[in-house]
Amino acid sequence: MSAPVIAETRLSAARVLSAGTVLIRLERPENFPDPFPGQFAKLKILSAAPNLPPGLCGAGFLDRPFSFHAQTADELSFLIREAGAVSGLFKSLSPGAKIRITGPLGRAEDSLIKGRDPLILVAGGAGLAPMGMIRRENFPRVLLLYGEKTGEAQADEGYLDSLAPDRISLTEDGSGRGGKGLPTEALSRALEALTTPALVFACGPPGLLRECARLCAERPRAKCLISAETFLACGLGVCLSCSFSARDGSRRRLCVDGPVFPAELLNF
Ligand SMILES: Cc1cc2nc3c(=O)[nH]c(=O)nc-3n(C[C@H](O)[C@H](O)[C@H](O)COP(=O)(O)OP(=O)(O)OC[C@H]3O[C@@H](n4cnc5c(N)ncnc54)[C@H](O)[C@@H]3O)c2cc1C
Ligand code: FES
Repeated sequence: MSAPVIAETRLSAARVLSAGTVLIRLERPENFPDPFPGQFAKLKILSAAPNLPPGLCGAGFLDRPFSFHAQTADELSFLIREAGAVSGLFKSLSPGAKIRITGPLGRAEDSLIKGRDPLILVAGGAGLAPMGMIRRENFPRVLLLYGEKTGEAQADEGYLDSLAPDRISLTEDGSGRGGKGLPTEALSRALEALTTPALVFACGPPGLLRECARLCAERPRAKCLISAETFLACGLGVCLSCSFSARDGSRRRLCVDGPVFPAELLNF
């Protein structure tokens, strides 16, 4: 396991995937360790973005956690959904903008996410973010079940084709491609049809995660992993702001014991 590094880097490109979602690529700092699937980094914008009130960038503003979406020898990428002040800034950055990266953070081993069984990815909204890294593991088959509230929020087809050609996209209000419904309804049908063991990897809002865990608990063939979120401070296991009681009675820190956990460990 490599220790996390803190490095200053630059934005090399940003691609808008939908209203509110941007895929950013950062120059990979020299000697940046390979992130494992499920790991994350803290990002802090150092450059001032155009049209922003003073104070939103620079020394006074906290880093925010984002999952690694993909890596190459030269770049690291992140999928960022606008949720508030900082996440909303990334879409206004131009190539060359300075960003501080701290990472890789989170549990640094891949024994949980192994490519032996077919993989079912369940993503709600920004829950697409960790899927890029996991998708590239050597799974025999990958099915993506992807849900958004509206068609406006759906990521573009070209991007989704590159992520997972075999997929079901749904929107809650039926205004987008793929029809009306929830990814958990699609999961229920996919689990019903399972003839072999499968790994389910879920990321998204709490309701989606709870339902994935419940559905998989009813199906012994489906092992469910959840990429969990909470408010983080240090990200290094020191401040305990992310600690919680697991169902086995142990205390866990999301930032170093996760963020990916077997569903049966989590209290929903
Ligand atoms: C390990 C981890 C990985 C993450 N990966 C991604 C990712 O890859 N892409 C992505 O778009 N987002 C990701 N997030 C969520 C992202 O960190 C938050 O959306 C972001 O920090 C919000 O900052 P902000 O200043 O924009 O919003 P704020 O103004 O701080 O908050 C805006 C709203 O979002 C809520 N919120 C903020 N942080 C969180 C959180 N951690 N969990 C739940 N609700 C929150 C607040 O309650 C508020 O309602 C991740 C979070 C964690 C803990
Ligand atoms: S954020 Fe500090 S211990 Fe996890």
